[in-house]
Amino acid sequence: MSLYPILLALHSLTRWLVLLSLIYAIYRSYSGWRQDKPFSKFDNSVRHITVTIAHIQLVLGVWLYFISPITNYFLANFKTAVHERQIRFFGMEHVTVMLVAIVLITIGSAKAKRKPTDQLKYKTMAVWYTVAMVLIISSVPWQFSPLISRPYFRWF
Ligand code: HEM
Repeated sequence: MSLYPILLALHSLTRWLVLLSLIYAIYRSYSGWRQDKPFSKFDNSVRHITVTIAHIQLVLGVWLYFISPITNYFLANFKTAVHERQIRFFGMEHVTVMLVAIVLITIGSAKAKRKPTDQLKYKTMAVWYTVAMVLIISSVPWQFSPLISRPYFRWF
C-alpha cells in the first residue's frame, strides 16, 4: 500500500489535535492572564505539547508535499497550475499560511518560556497562539467550504 493515503489521513486527523491543543492553550493563557494566576508546571506542559503537535503536523505536511500527486503536478506544471485554484491552494497558499502559523507558534512558545513574570508568559502565549490559530482556521480546507472542500475525517 502506498504511503500517500496513510499520510493524508494522518495529516487530516492531526488537524484536530492542532486545533484542540491551541484552543485549550489559548483558553488557559487568557484566563491565567486575566485572573492573575501563577503559571504552573501544567501550563508549561500545555505550552510545550501544543508546539510539539504543531511540529508533528509540520513534518507530516512537508512529507505530504513531496509525495502528493497534487503538489507534484503543481511543481511540474507551475505556469499553468498556478491558475488552477484547487491545485494552487495546496501547492502554494495552504503551505505558506500554515508554515507562517507554525513559525508563530514556535516563536510564541519560545518567547513565553523566557518571559520573567507569569503574567507575561500567559500574555505572550495568548497573543501568538491566537494569531496562529486564526491563520490555521483560515487555511484548513473545511468540508463546508465552497472553494476547497475536504472531509472532516478521512480514513486510510
Ligand atoms: C497546522 C498546520 C496544518 C493543518 C491544520 C493542515 C491541515 C490540512 C488538511 C485538513 C488537509 C486536507 C486533508 C484531506 O484531504 O483529508 C491538508 C492537506 C494538505 N496539507 Fe496541510 N495542514 C497543515 C500544515 C501543512 C504544512 C506545513 C504543509 C506543507 C509544508 C501541508 C501540506 C499539505 C498538503 C500537500 C496537502 C494536500 C495533499 C493532497 O491532497 O494531495 N500542510 N492539510
